[in-house]
Amino acid sequence: MAKIYPSLMAGDILNLQREIEVLEKSDIAGYHIDIMDDHFVPNLTWGKMFVEAFSKITKKPLWVHLMVDDYRRWVDLLLPVLNANSIVSFHFESKNKFRETSSLIEKNNCIPSIAIKPKTPVEEVFPFLDVIHHVLVMSVEPGFSGQPFLPEVISKVETLVSACQINGSRVTIGMDGGIKEDNISMLAQKGVEDFAIGSGIFKYEDRVAIIKKLYDLSQV
Ligand code: DX5
Ligand code: ZN
Repeated sequence: MAKIYPSLMAGDILNLQREIEVLEKSDIAGYHIDIMDDHFVPNLTWGKMFVEAFSKITKKPLWVHLMVDDYRRWVDLLLPVLNANSIVSFHFESKNKFRETSSLIEKNNCIPSIAIKPKTPVEEVFPFLDVIHHVLVMSVEPGFSGQPFLPEVISKVETLVSACQINGSRVTIGMDGGIKEDNISMLAQKGVEDFAIGSGIFKYEDRVAIIKKLYDLSQV
C-alpha cells in the first residue's frame, strides 16, 4: 500500500502553515523534510528549530532526509523533537556509523532508513539490511526539487525486491525525486511503497486533488 509524503521544500515555504492546513485534508502519510548542510549537497535548508516547530503543528510522522556530512550529529539533534513513527533517512555515502545510528533511531520509536544516491549501487546496502528495514532509493541527484526522474534507478528497486525475496527479509522501499503522475504507477508496481513527492504535488493549485490522483494511480 503506497504512502505519500509531500516534500516541503517544493511547497510555498513562506506559507507552510497554510500548506499544512490544506494537506491535512488529504490522506498523506506524513511530511518529507529535507535537511541539507550546503556541503554534502550544494544547498541549505532547515535545522532543528524548524523541525521542532513543524512537529508541533502536525501529529503525522515526519520523514527527515538527512543530506549532511555528519548525520550522526543530526540524528542526536532531531530525535528528541520527532513525532513517533517518523522515518530518518541518512545517506550511505556519508560513511558513518550505520548500525549504531540505526539502533538509536529505533529506540526513539522512529524508523531508520538508509539512502543511496543515484550512482551508488544498491548492493552496497545489503550488509546492513539485517538491522535497517527501510531503503531510500534517490531518483535524482540530491539537493534540489524539480529535477527530472532518472530511469536508471528502477533496476535498483528490482534488485532490492529480488534480493529480499531470496533471503526472506522485509524491506520497505522509499523513493524521492521526480515522482509524478506519469511514473508513480510503474514505481508502485515495481515495489516502491513510500513516495516523497515535491513538484509532483506542489506545482498543482489543488494539492488535495493531485494527492488523491497519485494515490489512485499507485494502487497495485
Ligand atoms: C531533493 C530532495 C527531494 C525534493 C523532491 O534532493 O531530497 O525531497 O524535494 O522534489 P521533486 O519531487 O520535485 O523531485
Ligand atoms: Zn528528500
